[in-house]
Amino acid sequence: MGKAYENRHDNLDDFIANHKVILPEVCRVLKSGGSLCWQVGFHVLDGVTTPLDFLVHEVMSKIEGMKLRNRIAWTFGHGLHCQTRFSGRYETVLWYTKGEGYTFDLDAVRVPQKYPGKRHTDGPKRGQPSGNPAGKNPSDVWDIPNVNANHLEKTDHPCQFPVGLVQRLVRALTKEGDVVLDPFCGVASAGVAALHEKRHFIGAELDAEYVQLGLERLRATIKGEVRFRPADRAILEPSPTSIVGRRPAGFATGIELPDAFLLHPGAS
Ligand SMILES: C[S@@+](CC[C@H](N)C(=O)[O-])C[C@H]1O[C@@H](n2cnc3c(N)ncnc32)[C@H](O)[C@@H]1O
Repeated sequence: MGKAYENRHDNLDDFIANHKVILPEVCRVLKSGGSLCWQVGFHVLDGVTTPLDFLVHEVMSKIEGMKLRNRIAWTFGHGLHCQTRFSGRYETVLWYTKGEGYTFDLDAVRVPQKYPGKRHTDGPKRGQPSGNPAGKNPSDVWDIPNVNANHLEKTDHPCQFPVGLVQRLVRALTKEGDVVLDPFCGVASAGVAALHEKRHFIGAELDAEYVQLGLERLRATIKGEVRFRPADRAILEPSPTSIVGRRPAGFATGIELPDAFLLHPGAS
């Protein structure tokens, strides 16, 4: 697990040089069959965008024995509204494995189907539900709210992960009793996920204040007192009649379809 701290004024040459040192070390201490998940966003300077995972993969692809399994798009609904390009609403997690064989516990991370009522239309199972009753694969696009000021996990850290993002990785890619390492652990969101899922945790963090906050969160997790938003909790859709969901006069509505086009006339 990891996310190197991104200062948007950082020079990209430094980013690459640092990752050429950090990533081989992280891969060295990873056990065979283990997983490395590296989360990064975008570097934006003077309106020019660089996807940092491209740079990470450039380094990773030269480390022997490491195989890329997924490039996960972590999407979220909130952030800055850009005026000169589309507003950024996703970052990525690159998931690599080391050596042969790796843990992938799909059943631990299944999510409810969108259309659970779908049925087989022919064959011996005709009429029976066609999906897995335990849910479906969560796919490689994960919509998990980022930790903004109102988020229940918010601490003083400016860019902490939602615990649910790490929880899904921990549940799928490790077994109970395994060790999770986050070399840039901030306030230990990865540690909260690891301890909650009965894994061990090792974290490294430069800033003493974040270390203290992280330790408090880890102690709360051990006592069963930590609060976080699980990855599979449905994203809240504001009711059109709520104060924030109600559209003020003159606000855009999108394309209005005549009722004849709607499955449920009157609904929007
Ligand atoms: C993006 S934040 C990680 C936040 C973390 N995922 C969380 O949820 O709290 C990166 C962290 O790495 C720390 N950091 C930067 N350079 C470091 C280094 N060389 N060793 C350890 N930690 C470092 C920063 O202080 C920062 O808290």
